[in-house]
Amino acid sequence: MKHYQFGVDYYPEHWPKERWAADASMMREMGIQIVRMAEFSWEKFEPAEGEFHFEDLDAAIDILAQEGIDVILGTPSAAPPAWIVERDPDIQPTDWTMRRRHFGGRHHDCQSHPAYRTHIRRYVTAFAAHYAVNPHVVGWQIDNELGNSHGDLCFCEHCEKRFRAWLREKYGTVAELNRAWGTAFWSQGYGSFEQVHAPRVTVTGINPSQELDWKRFTSDLVCEFHQMQADILRAAAPEKFITHNLMGFCSKPSYYDLGKQLDFASHDQYPGGHFHARHDEYRADWHAAELDFIRAVKQQSFWIMEQQSGITGWEILGRAPKPNQIPLWAMQCVAHGADTIVFFRWRSCAMGTEQYWHGILPHNGVPGRYHREISAFMKKYAPLLKELHGSVPKADVAILRSYDQERAFDIQPHHPNHRYMQHVATYYKALHRANVPVDFVGEHHDFTPYRVLIAPLQFLMTSEHAAKLRAYVEQGGHLVLTWRSGVKDGTNLCYTEGAVPCLVDDMCGLALAEYDCLRDTDGLVRWDGVEYPCTQWCDVVDTTTAESLATYAHEFYAGTPAITCNQHGKGKVYYVGTTMGDALADRFISCLCEGAAIGGLLDTPHGVEVTHRMAGGRKYLFVLNHKEVPQQVKIPETWHTWDGAVWEGTLAPLGMQVFVEL
Ligand code: GLA
Ligand code: ZN
Repeated sequence: MKHYQFGVDYYPEHWPKERWAADASMMREMGIQIVRMAEFSWEKFEPAEGEFHFEDLDAAIDILAQEGIDVILGTPSAAPPAWIVERDPDIQPTDWTMRRRHFGGRHHDCQSHPAYRTHIRRYVTAFAAHYAVNPHVVGWQIDNELGNSHGDLCFCEHCEKRFRAWLREKYGTVAELNRAWGTAFWSQGYGSFEQVHAPRVTVTGINPSQELDWKRFTSDLVCEFHQMQADILRAAAPEKFITHNLMGFCSKPSYYDLGKQLDFASHDQYPGGHFHARHDEYRADWHAAELDFIRAVKQQSFWIMEQQSGITGWEILGRAPKPNQIPLWAMQCVAHGADTIVFFRWRSCAMGTEQYWHGILPHNGVPGRYHREISAFMKKYAPLLKELHGSVPKADVAILRSYDQERAFDIQPHHPNHRYMQHVATYYKALHRANVPVDFVGEHHDFTPYRVLIAPLQFLMTSEHAAKLRAYVEQGGHLVLTWRSGVKDGTNLCYTEGAVPCLVDDMCGLALAEYDCLRDTDGLVRWDGVEYPCTQWCDVVDTTTAESLATYAHEFYAGTPAITCNQHGKGKVYYVGTTMGDALADRFISCLCEGAAIGGLLDTPHGVEVTHRMAGGRKYLFVLNHKEVPQQVKIPETWHTWDGAVWEGTLAPLGMQVFVEL
């Protein structure tokens, strides 16, 4: 596969044809090598059933090709045209109140509907056949951000039919389903699979086991929907790649599962956001975590398919990216393993919902600051991206990110402020502050390359998973477990035998005695005489063999262990009974890293991030200042600036420097 460093998302159908050649030549001039197109253009290319008109897209591809630019084409199943909806109105999705959602936005489709599948097969087959032979089309993206507004949206009869088939396959008999879902409660027993529905709106409460299976099912449905299109594209053009624009920690489809169908993962990165109420909040660590997670999807380097290139917003807008911030955001992606950065979008569009989701060019097409900054960035760093292609960091710490645990906590957050990913991020952020490289892993990955495995909130504990964790520790791994571990089995029923954390209590060297949900109050933990805030939850434990590292300093359980460590086999198991505030998390991470002889890449002031990638036997180090003030950083003598610049010891506001360690 040819390597690309920079690209752009482009919608030629929004602009007069006379402009396309100027766009293409400006793109080439900037250093753009690849363009993604067509993922929302069904109506243009098939205005009536079976009447395909790819002439305009052919022309756009030709114009780009003349400038040496290749193309990724999207299949348009995120936006079926009005004539399809007119013919088959049932393909519009039904929400959980059984209310139909209508044409006029996007994602107005039911992914199960047989008629919709027929429309997609017809379109994708013709599209694939037409472009299979075009050498400038090098890859495909199927649909767009699958899971964005899909996931658990459609509750129609076709989706329920598939859900029942999925349940039949999983449980075999309705008696087993009744057992696994605990339907003895509130008279919910089923006499047949036909009586089972999607978890529609109820008067009060929903069976948590039913909800968990529904979330698993919808994830599988999204993956199967993708597979149907991938099969057509691969058969027509086996040499072209397939990727998908994932959305970081979006939890609707499992990206581990979806990733199996991709040649490489891609991600959409909008650090400015328009959805965050507080724009002064420090979020570089969260964005770093999402990038590290995307690298985990295929355990390899990845692409950014949409990189913020201006102000973002639909009806409400975010802040303007500050001078140099767009290049800094793009470099952060490279620093965590992106090989290629595709900027969204070429030109701010004059029409439709996304008029204010700005592009490299403003509405009038005249280059301004975004264009200037992005051009300079591309020119300077294209050679660096070439050197780095395919490389990843080397991490000794892994964090387990589990879709199943997240689903279970979405259903039962316990504390109103508790969110699975935010909890996982307390560990990530502390490691990030210490500049310790992190890999994310799923339950299916090999844990043994890591000296430390942080596995927060192992709420659902199956015997297979417990055995895998046990083997990891026995062979010398340092494992971190937390509150709400080993509480339930795989179908979301509470364990009724043994001590919580069930199946791993002996490894932890403790048993749960009781717990306290910190509603409307915070707690305190004392460690070596220093008191640190904690929130949300406190497990009260009886230790058997575990050593207490820190104790609670509040409530009737003051003085009992809050954080423990237990030797097991050749390894150790840490248990954290509460949600740690930042200061406590820093204290814990430093103890954990010291115990495993792991150090950070560099000591830096807050807001200066350091990451690395190993390429061609060399270590590349990225030092990124996410703060709007100059910051001093002490660089080791073995690090040399990649661009040969003299290192003066200070990073400019929102400045960056890449080093190579020799
Ligand atoms: C997403 C989508 C794009 C576009 C942008 C801006 O990331 O993939 O199609 O909608 O957001 O809203
Ligand atoms: Zn449906």
